[in-house]
Amino acid sequence: MGTVCRVAIDIEITCHEGQVAAILSDAPITAVFGGNRSGKTEVEKWWLLRRWIKRGGPGATFWWVGPDLEKAISYGAWSIAGPMGQGGGSWPDAVFTGPRKITTATKAPTLYLIDGSVLAFMHAHHSGGRAGDNLKSANVRDAVVDELTAVTSAENWTQVLARVSQSGGAVCTASTRKRGHWSRREIDELVSTAGEDAIRVYALDIFDNPWMAYAAVWKLFLTDNTLSRRTLEVEVLADPDPPARARAVVTKPRSLQEHFGHEFADTSRLWSEWDGSAIVTGDEHLWVSRNGAPVRLLDITAGVLRKRLDTARGVRKSRAKPGAPPIGRRKTIDEHNFIETWADRKARKAKEKAAT
Ligand SMILES: Nc1ncnc2c1ncn2[C@@H]1O[C@H](COP(=O)(O)OP(=O)(O)OP(=O)(O)O)[C@@H](O)[C@H]1O
Ligand SMILES: [Mg+2]
Repeated sequence: MGTVCRVAIDIEITCHEGQVAAILSDAPITAVFGGNRSGKTEVEKWWLLRRWIKRGGPGATFWWVGPDLEKAISYGAWSIAGPMGQGGGSWPDAVFTGPRKITTATKAPTLYLIDGSVLAFMHAHHSGGRAGDNLKSANVRDAVVDELTAVTSAENWTQVLARVSQSGGAVCTASTRKRGHWSRREIDELVSTAGEDAIRVYALDIFDNPWMAYAAVWKLFLTDNTLSRRTLEVEVLADPDPPARARAVVTKPRSLQEHFGHEFADTSRLWSEWDGSAIVTGDEHLWVSRNGAPVRLLDITAGVLRKRLDTARGVRKSRAKPGAPPIGRRKTIDEHNFIETWADRKARKAKEKAAT
């Protein structure tokens, strides 16, 4: 007859106010978008611990998915279970059992939990034809996908959702925003149709995190020119509520993205946003007149086509002939948007020169 062993482990979950609802979320998809150092990854760690407590058991598999395996190990495994997975991480050491030595070279990093559950660290690095391949496996109870906007292919996300679906599982993801990333389409835009019970989106900014000292935040804001020293001293620090004032006066798009988690809305908008009212100047940029003001769009057509074409033809850097121009400059788009090889372009230019 087997012996049943019961142990009681005290687990102290710390969190800041903005993290509570996301940690406790039981929605099929929980997404935390926010600024750098706002506490996004900590939410995922505690969310997963809670899911394990509720849904773990012999053979139950949980996933921590990173944009690459190295990140899954350092921000996931080592952060949860300490350096090399050998203790001293966020989760109490007493919840782990079995062999534990996870290095950056470990091929299939895994932690074993005392109830027989398995916590595997995976990557979502593949794109193209191999996208999501390594995530096609057996059932997974619940999963975390950290740094979602660093995941290039949406297929990885779809695979994770598919893995947890059979057991009625859930996925928690956290990330900074990235302009044009598919997460906007796959998560935010689905909230209106799927409903808030299915997808919950939370926002955090750097001031929400009390573990970030204000002094450190101001220093950061000065270093990356989020605020000028004058604005900081005269406007922000003089205000009775400096964080609120900072939220109001910061306008730099990159700072809004990096620190406050707003989507990057830079002057380099993409060609796809062109509405037809175009004045083209130069060969890389497109200037359009919008409400009487010039707006610069970045023409990505050539880059996208070149990349697609190179991939389709299997063109590799290593195959470039010695002395050939760099790969990125070997093809150009002529005025009719046809692809032109470097040799054709050279011939055309020579012809044009001869004609003048
Ligand atoms: N709930 C928490 N309990 C303890 N410490 C926390 C918590 N939330 C945030 N912190 C502290 O704030 C730091 C940043 O948190 P976290 O790594 O979760 O932020 P992030 O938004 O994921 O940052 P990054 O932009 O680097 O990915 C942590 O290293 C930790 O020191
Ligand atoms: Mg993080």
